[in-house]
Amino acid sequence: MIEKSAYGYTIEKDGVYLDIEFFESDIVRFVYSKERHLPKVSQSIVREPKLVKVKLDKNIIETDKLKIEIDENTLKTRIYNLEGVLLSEDKEILSRKKPAKRKHSGEWTLAERSEIAMESYRGRDESCVKLVKNILWETGYYGLGEKYGYLNKKGYKTQNWCSDVLAHTPVHTPVVEHYHTSIPFFIGADTQKAYGIFFDTRYKNSFDFGKYKKDVVEISADGGIVDYYFINGPKISDVVEKYSYLTGYMEMPDKKYLGYQQCRWSYVDSDEVIQTAEKFVSENIPCDVIYLDIDYMEAYKVFTVDKERFSDFKKMAKRLKELAIKLVVIIDPGVKVEEGYSVYDDGLEKGYFVTDKNGKTYVGQVWPGDSVFPDFLRTDVQKWWGDLHKTLFDMGVDGIWNDMNEPADASNEEKTLPETALHFDDNGKKHTHDEIHNIYGMLEAKATYDAMLNYGIDRPFILTRAAAAGSQRYAALWTGDNASIWEHLEASIPMFLNLGLSGYPWIGGDVGGFMGDTNPELFLRWIQLGIFTPFFRNHSSLGTMNQEPWVFNNQINEIVKSNIEERYKLIDHIYSLFYKAHTKGTPIIAPLFYYYQEDKETYGVHEGFLFGENMLVYPIVRPEVTRKMVYLPKGVWYDYWNNTKYDGEKWIIVEVILEKMPVFIKSGSVVLENAVNRTVVYDSAEIVAKVYGEDDFTQSFYFDDGKSKAYKSGEYSVAEIRQLAGEIKVNQIEGKGKMPNIVIKKI
Ligand code: GLC
Repeated sequence: MIEKSAYGYTIEKDGVYLDIEFFESDIVRFVYSKERHLPKVSQSIVREPKLVKVKLDKNIIETDKLKIEIDENTLKTRIYNLEGVLLSEDKEILSRKKPAKRKHSGEWTLAERSEIAMESYRGRDESCVKLVKNILWETGYYGLGEKYGYLNKKGYKTQNWCSDVLAHTPVHTPVVEHYHTSIPFFIGADTQKAYGIFFDTRYKNSFDFGKYKKDVVEISADGGIVDYYFINGPKISDVVEKYSYLTGYMEMPDKKYLGYQQCRWSYVDSDEVIQTAEKFVSENIPCDVIYLDIDYMEAYKVFTVDKERFSDFKKMAKRLKELAIKLVVIIDPGVKVEEGYSVYDDGLEKGYFVTDKNGKTYVGQVWPGDSVFPDFLRTDVQKWWGDLHKTLFDMGVDGIWNDMNEPADASNEEKTLPETALHFDDNGKKHTHDEIHNIYGMLEAKATYDAMLNYGIDRPFILTRAAAAGSQRYAALWTGDNASIWEHLEASIPMFLNLGLSGYPWIGGDVGGFMGDTNPELFLRWIQLGIFTPFFRNHSSLGTMNQEPWVFNNQINEIVKSNIEERYKLIDHIYSLFYKAHTKGTPIIAPLFYYYQEDKETYGVHEGFLFGENMLVYPIVRPEVTRKMVYLPKGVWYDYWNNTKYDGEKWIIVEVILEKMPVFIKSGSVVLENAVNRTVVYDSAEIVAKVYGEDDFTQSFYFDDGKSKAYKSGEYSVAEIRQLAGEIKVNQIEGKGKMPNIVIKKI
């Protein structure tokens, strides 16, 4: 019998309960468990269930958006929209004891490896819980965080298990399933409809979109229960916004971090850091952030500084401040095992590190050699770890870069902690690592974020490599160790776009490529993509050639500089895109179908994307390109560089030059333009609003001081720019802050 519960309904069959809870009338949680009471929501979810208007008629629950039909014998459901279209249909729900893992001799032999491959091909499956849905009308599946390959994941299988990818493979490729994130969320869509499913698990989880299992989407996990959220569209953009509502929005960033950022593994001493910063000044190339990679530490011991090479760290930090450049340092979770090193001694004494299955502190291998790992599941450990950052902030550090936080551990073949390692929660309850692994990076970011707020940093900047659903609340994300090859430039685009569709707006990759030497043309094209990537950082690996923006020949250097300046013209424009991400979860960059879902043609556009709603960007991802075929969706479009007008809803061929990549602006829209400065200016007194075309429109832009939390108490302004029958008006429609002077320029 279906019974009413606090926020929905419960039904029991043979000792299994299905609980249906509403978060909105079109955001519904389904939990299958042996217990009557719903497990609390996970770390990923920031909302509580709500009372929504529902009625039950026999076995059908109806809200003002959906109908849910429950099979009382099998507990399977069918979900319909109110027009009666079947949106989602269960084929199987399974929960079982963890099947025995396949045994192996310790070191995998080649024969064992090939057997494993054959077995998984034949369907061997070590999962504990499974949710299988029929593929109905979906032509595409999108999301799943950071994954290599094209946008549409139909016919594709993958697994989420946060991994230091490079530890497993010489270079990121489409056959690798494990990347640095675990975001078990996808969108099923066609041109008319869309829904999302967030499978809320912390365990290793897999998604097969009709690859091995024909005609079904199979979602499985290695532990836990079936606990998932169904989110109705009907538009793809609705799904992303509702998923973001559920798992939390990013905070408003400090505006400086929207500028160009410079990193390298490593600037080895304070002189080199200062020289690099000063070179940006003398070359007059904009730069807002410089990073210190692992070599600033003494023997890779976190929260220490090498006494020789960085003997006067404070002085270096002060000099960067004078140049208006922020300083970000890397902090990895691995703590060096060394008696007399206070972080190790203290953590050990307090019992703060992850243990092995017998309760002995687990020792793995990271940069410092033997290393131990804080148990971030405990809030006292989070607090302890967070407080350790104080010494860095006191020395003038502004932001924190969290790396190797999957966590990476080179001591074994899995390249992470053993699944049997132990964590403890605040109630002292034991959790094996297989359950905590995928959220480890998120917990570290949270610890750091809270500590920064505590220290008085109003808008903390954290960059992370590992992430889970919800990490967007704490940190920007970069996609780890790419290589300086054209293929990776190209591959980064769908990766960013699927991350955006997975509720992760602040994303970017290593501009110029990390591994291997870059080359001038590749570097230049990467910078051009970087201008239109939410997070814009140049980074390269140890042992590769330098790739600061002045190391190439004069022609390339000049073009690189002027392209970086283009980013700075757009800072206030970009800042408003971040505001939309902050208030609604809107991706800063999105595939064309995000805004033109009904247009079939947009689904085959792989490199082009929209930066905000009205800037269409076509990065050049191959060498020596002189022409490019680009698709312009419905409307009239202006070439951003020379204002040539094109009719949309068609493919056109455009000429490509080295200096710029193709960018188009939709008629009936505005692009804000700042004066170019060498660093981001917090308070732009005057901004030009370029109005494209004669079409009527209303568009709004957001302004505040760019750094404090005053906006939370109303110190901001939202300006509405409206064009009606050729007449343009600018009004402040929100906030008590002062609006900058907006100067209209008609294009
Ligand atoms: C990892 C990071 C890379 C960093 C290196 C050294 O490979 O992904 O960005 O430079 O470690 O810290």
